[in-house]
Amino acid sequence: MKTENIMLSSDRRSVVILDQTQLPNRTEYLTLNTAGEMYDAIFRLKVRGAPAIGIFAAYGIYCLSRQIAEKEYDGFYKKFAEYADYLESSRPTAVNLSWALGRMRQTAERNKERPVEELVELLGQEAEKIQKEDIDMCRRISEYGLTLIKDGDGILTHCNAGPLATSRYGTALGPVLLGREKNMNFHVFVDETRPLLQGARLTAYELLKADVDATLICDNMASSVMKKGWVKACFVGCDRIAANGDTANKVGTSGVAILAKYYGIPFYVLGPTSTIDMSCRSGEDIKIELRDGEEIKKKYYEKPMAPEDIKCYNPAFDVTDHELITAIITERGILRAPYTKSIAEIMK
Ligand code: MRU
Repeated sequence: MKTENIMLSSDRRSVVILDQTQLPNRTEYLTLNTAGEMYDAIFRLKVRGAPAIGIFAAYGIYCLSRQIAEKEYDGFYKKFAEYADYLESSRPTAVNLSWALGRMRQTAERNKERPVEELVELLGQEAEKIQKEDIDMCRRISEYGLTLIKDGDGILTHCNAGPLATSRYGTALGPVLLGREKNMNFHVFVDETRPLLQGARLTAYELLKADVDATLICDNMASSVMKKGWVKACFVGCDRIAANGDTANKVGTSGVAILAKYYGIPFYVLGPTSTIDMSCRSGEDIKIELRDGEEIKKKYYEKPMAPEDIKCYNPAFDVTDHELITAIITERGILRAPYTKSIAEIMK
């Protein structure tokens, strides 16, 4: 399966990605062969966005499996599991990473009786299936999401949950991109998304490319545009949804939800059901990634913009309380409160 941002090389030995850290200035593709390079690509956000890192890891473990010399299942599986655990440890919050690697593990375990070479090919097929399913899921999420807005609406989004973060359409940007294909016009307010600027660098880039009317704002301006009545709905993605509907997404999302509640604006979370983690009862159980404070002080500045010795706290995600969420839009439908009930039903 070939899409723009994540694909297999023609010899199916490496994963090729569009390096998201270089956007919007450079379109640079990276060819990744080793487990270390793959770990690094996820950790440094060269590939990022919950569904995208799951798809990438599935292709990654397939390519690594092809490099394993062991032809006996037990020896093969030991090495395979080591690689899978290593990739899984690259980022903790997005459940799609462990979900996709879990599917690859199950494929290996279910086919243990087959010759290793055949099993490896089945792993390749499973990775392609995960990507294909993601395209379908994004399409369905986009269709459901589009029913919640009307032509001309102003939408506010945080971080990047567009095609780069998935495979096609994206989740939070999906309804807008699908609507644009149908000649509808929305106006999107794009939070820049400090400190790594996924909104400014990636969402703004994707929306301009799709000819969507978009305005970039700093994160602390969301309240101003809401107060002016310019925002009719907030659309955000998600990295992990707990069984009660509490949702982890890029840090700053919960603040947007609180503002939206104050101004009476619907706040929608869009994501595939693979993002729902029934083992987390609430947001309290979701592990939040803490990243290096250097990202706050220096990243993307020509010179450091803070004293070198200042302490930093840099959580990459935060949890939006389910009470602030108007609806959760999945590929299986639109979920409303009480989420403990609607999520349990859809996950049956
Ligand atoms: O740290 P990132 O850039 O990987 O964070 C990504 C987000 O928070 C996205 O909103 C989320 O993964 C959903 S992507 C469809």
